Parts: sequence; structure tokens; C-alpha cells
Amino acid sequence: MASSSKKNIAFDLYGTLLSTESIAVELAKVFGDDAARSISPLWRRYQLEYTWRINSMGIYRPFSDITRGALEHAVAESGAALSAGDSDRLVEAYDALRVFPDVPAALDAVRAQAAEGAIEAYVFSNGTDAMVSESIATSPDLQAYADVFKGLVTVHDDGVRVFKPDMRTYDHLVRAVGKEGRPGDVWLVTGNPFDVIGARVAGLSAAWVDRAGKGWVDRLGDVVGGIKPTLVVSGVDAAVEEIVRSASS
Ligand code: LAC
Repeated sequence: MASSSKKNIAFDLYGTLLSTESIAVELAKVFGDDAARSISPLWRRYQLEYTWRINSMGIYRPFSDITRGALEHAVAESGAALSAGDSDRLVEAYDALRVFPDVPAALDAVRAQAAEGAIEAYVFSNGTDAMVSESIATSPDLQAYADVFKGLVTVHDDGVRVFKPDMRTYDHLVRAVGKEGRPGDVWLVTGNPFDVIGARVAGLSAAWVDRAGKGWVDRLGDVVGGIKPTLVVSGVDAAVEEIVRSASS
């Protein structure tokens, strides 16, 4: 298959391939089950909120620093105490998150399609190169699939240094996969609605992974003029299947 007919698929990492909720097991070791259940979603919420706030201020700090600050915020808000050692250990545990159950089948399919020249797969993340490569190398489920990805594209790459959904991050992805001027040929697969809308506004195709099965409720796309996911799928495996099908139709 000619390289121009290849589908470029970029997978968001945290919240799409890796479950940020799987950190609850590590949090429970420090704070107990009940507190872990409330700190875990709060940590993720502040992690994302901090990226948007810092973007608005025109400042950049690596995602690893953002992740640590968000953890400390979530723990303080829950009324628990966090030692420096626990903070280090929990941030390190971010490098060993578990994948969602639909991910291994999806990456098996990507490997097969990539071998046939139908797909080029990338990871596209807010993380630093070090954090993303470490997350892939250390995740007990993802390490076997490290070879599936042609490249890791991060917002920490030179000349970007701003977080999603700033348009410059998606423009960078399109350039990095060699599709400059043809953003619609690049697919983003993501479980994060804010990432879907950012990618669609930048002209990319985007598959939203709706694991909770609640349907598309984010309305910012309507506010900015009828922007929606290109595809809504129940898992990353279904995203790969539908994107490949759309390639051959
Ligand atoms: C990422 C964020 C969205 O991996 O978690 O880019």
C-alpha cells in the first residue's frame, strides 16, 4: 500500500490508553480506600485544570510538574497529609498505570494493520518525552506494545511547549506525522472530550472513546459552531476498526 494511503492514527495517552483511575490502587496504600476513591478523580481534574490555566497565562511547565502540583492540591483539599516521600512515590506510580480493558485488542489490530502498511500509529500526549516513554516502558500492560508506535509526539517537543487544546499542539501533530496541509487525514483517538473538540477545530478527524456509554454531552462544540467528534466509539478497539474501514471505503 502506498504511504499516502496510510491512515495516521494518534492515540492520546492518559485517559485513553492508560487509565488515570488505575492510580487509585497506589493512592489507597497511602490514604486508604475511601480517601483514594475521592482523591483519584480530583487529582486528574486538577491536572487538566492546571494545564488549561497555565495555557491561559502564557506560561509552560512540564506535565510532570503539573501532575505533582495537582496531586498536592487534591490531597490538601481532601484534608489528608502528604509526605515528600509519598508524593515522589505517587508521581512515580504514574509511570505504571494500567491500560483500559479494550486496549490490548486494539493494539494487536494496530500491529497487524501496521505490518500491512495500512496504518501508522503514534502517541500524542501532554506528557514530556521522558514521562511518555517511561509510561509506555513501565506500564505492565503497555510495554509489550512499545514497538507498535512509529513515534511519540508530545507537547514538550521543541517549539510547542503549550498544552492541548491549544491549536499549536494539533498543528505540531499534523506536521510530525508528515501531513502538513492535510489535517483531516490525521486521526486522533481520545477519551477526553476537550481533546476531541480541539482536534476537530484544528481540522483533524477525531474518534471519541465513550467508555461510559453516556453519549456526547460536551456542548462547547455547539457553542463554537457545530463541531462534533467524527466518530463516537465504545473503545479504542472499535475506533481502530472503524478508522481502518473508513480507509478502505
Ligand atoms: C494526554 C492528556 C490529555 O495524555 O492526558 O495528553
